[in-house]
Amino acid sequence: MRTYQFNKFLIEEQRRNPALAGDFSMLISDVVRSCKAIAQGVSRGSLAGVLGDQGSENVQGEAQKKLDVLANQAFIHHCEWGGHLAAMASEEMDDIYPIPASNPRGKYLLVFDPLDGSSNIDVNLSVGSIFSVLRCPDNGDGKTPTAADFLQPGKCQVAAGYALYGPSAMLVLTVGNGTHGFTLDRNIGEFLLTHPNLVIAPETREFAINASNERFWEKPVQRYVAECLAGRTGVREKDFNMRWVASMVAEVHRILMRGGVFLYPRDSKDLGKPGRLRLMYEANPMAMIVEQAGGLASTGRERILDVQPTGLHQRVPVILGSHAEVERIERYHREYENGEDQPFRSPLFSTRTLFRDD
Ligand code: AHG
Ligand code: MN
Ligand code: MN
Repeated sequence: MRTYQFNKFLIEEQRRNPALAGDFSMLISDVVRSCKAIAQGVSRGSLAGVLGDQGSENVQGEAQKKLDVLANQAFIHHCEWGGHLAAMASEEMDDIYPIPASNPRGKYLLVFDPLDGSSNIDVNLSVGSIFSVLRCPDNGDGKTPTAADFLQPGKCQVAAGYALYGPSAMLVLTVGNGTHGFTLDRNIGEFLLTHPNLVIAPETREFAINASNERFWEKPVQRYVAECLAGRTGVREKDFNMRWVASMVAEVHRILMRGGVFLYPRDSKDLGKPGRLRLMYEANPMAMIVEQAGGLASTGRERILDVQPTGLHQRVPVILGSHAEVERIERYHREYENGEDQPFRSPLFSTRTLFRDD
């Protein structure tokens, strides 16, 4: 059988886009090696003794799983020596990780969520890794990169991708020329191109949201979900289906495969957090992947890729997927802000009329 190997894909992309020349394909190969190592650990589960809590917390006060920490170490181990990176940052590290001075430093920055959906790991459900590649702003004087060098809007990403550790392990990647999917052939230890040029269906009847937060959502999101739930008897005049895996990688993958919309919107559960998901290593890479597949990714009020980051671990509301649905949800936010979505009240039924409506 003729196969299309990941390396061949990368080299062709690099030939097509001279801006990616040099060590870019080597960097992505190192990232992919990290994902293969994590895929192996995840697939062995209890047999490898990697499940359960680590007994520590990350900078965001979340309990770390053993695999969160191991996956973070895998990225560092595979990507720190190649000479392609100046620094890394991750969900599991408080501060950035500059490449040690003993190694050559390269021109790229790598940001990653080493294990996404890690609450699923102990129950043997799908998890993933998410990564984003940025250029390191010129530090001609050879100075050590700082966190400020990472704070670039998502539209500056050079590449973004995720690995999904599901029934089969898959890699989905964009280098700014479409979104492409690869499946891990464990017999030869290679990712093979199986899903070239993924396109998200522009319309959908499927949405994903953690409905237990409903009372904390803003009005436009409550309106959108209520209309979906009303189905064919409501204004949408069609029935919707709902899914929630609690693993963003798995949700985005489903949307790439069969359409849909995913929401982790702003909520008032914890007023210190404007959303659940992190801009730099969850929202931004997924937004690039989704846009490159013809979908949209928004905070509800702004394109995610335009958000100017202010902190490495900053959170944002995320609404992404099928074009028409994300557009509709953005419209609901606008209408709410402009006061245009108030229920129509006839003057005949106002408080001064004989025809009171209460
Ligand atoms: P992580 O495991 O990296 O902390 O990310 C989990 C994220 C995301 O994958 C998922 O969509 C969401 O958190 C799940 O949140 P709930 O637990 O609120 O469902
Ligand atoms: Mn995550
Ligand atoms: Mn994580």
